[in-house]
Amino acid sequence: MILSIDQGTTGTTAFIFDADGRLRGRSYSEFSQHYPEPGWVEHDASEIWQVTLKVCAAAIQRAGIEASALRAVGITNQRETTVLWDRNTGEPVHPAIVWQCRRSAGICRELRRAGAEPMVRAKTGLLLDAYFSASKLRWIFRESPDLRRRAEAGELCFGTIDSWLIWCFTGGRQHLTDHTNASRTMLYDLDRRQWDSELLALFDCPAAILPEIRPSAGDFGATDPDAFFGARVPIAGVAGDQQAALYGQGCFRPGNLKNTYGTGCFMLACAGARRPLVPEGMLTTIACRADGQPQFAIEGSVFNAGAAVQWLRDDLGVIQRAADSEQLAQSVPSTRGVYMVPAFSGLGAPHWDTDARGALFGLTRGAGRAEIVRATLESIAYQSHELAELMGQALDVDLQCLRVDGGASANNFLMQFQADISNLRVERPRQIESTAVGAALLAGVGAGLWHGDALPESLQDIEQDFLPQMSAQTRESHLRGWHNAVSACRSF
Ligand code: G3P
Repeated sequence: MILSIDQGTTGTTAFIFDADGRLRGRSYSEFSQHYPEPGWVEHDASEIWQVTLKVCAAAIQRAGIEASALRAVGITNQRETTVLWDRNTGEPVHPAIVWQCRRSAGICRELRRAGAEPMVRAKTGLLLDAYFSASKLRWIFRESPDLRRRAEAGELCFGTIDSWLIWCFTGGRQHLTDHTNASRTMLYDLDRRQWDSELLALFDCPAAILPEIRPSAGDFGATDPDAFFGARVPIAGVAGDQQAALYGQGCFRPGNLKNTYGTGCFMLACAGARRPLVPEGMLTTIACRADGQPQFAIEGSVFNAGAAVQWLRDDLGVIQRAADSEQLAQSVPSTRGVYMVPAFSGLGAPHWDTDARGALFGLTRGAGRAEIVRATLESIAYQSHELAELMGQALDVDLQCLRVDGGASANNFLMQFQADISNLRVERPRQIESTAVGAALLAGVGAGLWHGDALPESLQDIEQDFLPQMSAQTRESHLRGWHNAVSACRSF
């Protein structure tokens, strides 16, 4: 049995998989989101640890096993979120600054003005944006000279959520991260695969706070029986959630492409062992390989996808459950020319426009609830399509297939529209929690239960294919409308 923990932005899920890849137990719990100022997002790292333990206990119980029966633990996590804690007491010394938090946007602007962006892009493959950890750390140290002094003196530990959970699980014995998570901090050199002193100096981060970086499948210490239900279990797989999903989807060959439909959408394409040339607006990141050898991926992210459906449900109240959107969208033959651009927090790749704001266009008196719901689902597919197009150009291949996962991939209307608008075959696996599958596989490989990049068959099954059915003319006219809508949002 393997315990796979998916520590996400809004909740933690624990899964128990058996050696054949069958799901034996599962538990999920949300935790508090803190928005102390507009555009700021914080988590309480101690609460995340408590919630994680709670769902682990419930999943273990549902699987009908003891913790000591676990062969390995795999951890996958929301990336970039920045935790700083006391090395002696293990207590967080600042609220965790979440990847979505924009408080360090001013720092990024300053550094851009100072001409730092080309060096940062060349070394990290990222854009100089508040999304990544480094500017968040710089913000904390600028606000609190005392924390800066304690960091320099080696009294503090920094980590993304993976490091924090490893620290907690091992009773404070291990301060570690993996290459996929390290590559999202903006302190990591992609080519040399290590922390970089020039980046540390740029963001004024003392090296003493950094975790050691390890390959995603392998030794991350073992759970401390005092912290984990009396059991000592090896932590054998660790990866950032999007890279874990890429692995879980079996995207090991250059050009293999996956899209995870969650609060946002994250599209990653495997780029192979050599660092790819990436178009502006897309990111280069580290992917996982069973043997720990270098593997690169290209990434594009859409900030608001499932979040737009939540908005329909929680703010407009036009649907009761997210799943109702499928039937409502299918109840009308088209949006009647309505476009919805869910730029609630600006636009991500390829636009990276923090000032853009959301809008509904093309309303006529005949446009009702169903048309607006349909336009919202379509907007998720349009945004993902823009990413897929750039991926194809970056990889210089004619993409054929998109593997999908995450909650909203269960929506058949959305998947068919994605296939139509992207002119790609969309493949949906039976187990759409590919993030957790990836972490379980890495842990299984790390613990010697599975070998190489071969997946147990039950995790590989494709449940449904969606084939493109739209004419080229209709596709072009839809895309023209979408591009006009996006331009209007950006100039508003
Ligand atoms: O980069 C942020 C990403 O890792 C968050 O993923 O699934 O927690 O929204 P999720």
